[in-house]
Amino acid sequence: MPTPKIVHLPVLKESVLEFLSPQAGQSYLDLTAGYGGHAAAVIGITGAPDRAWLVDRDHQAAQALRKKFVAQGAAVIESDFLSALERLADESRTFDMVLADLGVSSPHLEEPGRGFSFSRPGPLDMRMDQGQALSADRIVNSYPEDEVAHILSAYGEEPRADRIAKAIISGRPIKDTAHLAAIIAEAAGRRGKIHPATKSFQAIRIAVNDELRLLERALPLMAGVLKPGGRLAVISFHSLEDRLVKRFFADKSGDTYDAELKLLTKRPVTASRVEIVSNPRARSAKLRAAVKIKIP
Ligand SMILES: C[S@@+](CC[C@H](N)C(=O)[O-])C[C@H]1O[C@@H](n2cnc3c(N)ncnc32)[C@H](O)[C@@H]1O
Repeated sequence: MPTPKIVHLPVLKESVLEFLSPQAGQSYLDLTAGYGGHAAAVIGITGAPDRAWLVDRDHQAAQALRKKFVAQGAAVIESDFLSALERLADESRTFDMVLADLGVSSPHLEEPGRGFSFSRPGPLDMRMDQGQALSADRIVNSYPEDEVAHILSAYGEEPRADRIAKAIISGRPIKDTAHLAAIIAEAAGRRGKIHPATKSFQAIRIAVNDELRLLERALPLMAGVLKPGGRLAVISFHSLEDRLVKRFFADKSGDTYDAELKLLTKRPVTASRVEIVSNPRARSAKLRAAVKIKIP
């Protein structure tokens, strides 16, 4: 598969550098390295690509990372970040900096063939890892109505989940993303500025990629692979993700004698207007960061 021409701009790059605070020679684990924007910035400061581990479960992204970083000595792991963390923890590896910039990349959203976008007709896919069996097609065209409604409500916080699920079931077979978006728009009705299929597409994507379960299980390992004094930064893009990150950081920090992390961000850091104008994906980004203070 060719490397996409669509450019992915790293969000909140300056804040990520401020909170990870890279120093010469330090080790770096990027759990969602994508097209390497944050990684290049961090490695540019550490000058230690041979101490960088770059993870992504998307084959196109992993190929782009290999092309850009492997000759410099970086390790690229093509897998979901939970499996990668389990492997790294088994090998007792630890890092000075860990970054997770969650969610999808610009090529995911802008290449119609990946099926993530309701504004471009494409296959009902939405898989980050195209080797996995579960795709949007299976959910949309074969899951029972109550399961579809549950997905829309739990992962999209869609108040019209029941009505949309019913419309999806009666609209089967649904042939592509444009067809799905039209069915959802008709069932949900248009309110406000956002497209009526926004929440449902987010929900189906989260279900296809098992995003919240992986994040919840990976967070303790992200802290676990940090060296004492090491820094963790997580960027989330919707409230369900941010809730998990916020709760995890709160649980692991605080005034208890066995606190593992110290928060560096009391409130999440968000993008400036200037950044949002040049990179609209940054609009919903929230960065939280912490430093490891003790090995539990
Ligand atoms: C927002 S992009 C990251 C962009 C990157 N920081 C950069 O500067 O280019 C998110 C990336 O994380 C990957 N991803 C999302 N969830 C993942 C997971 N659970 N495991 C591994 N990779 C994941 C996606 O495939 C996507 O390439």
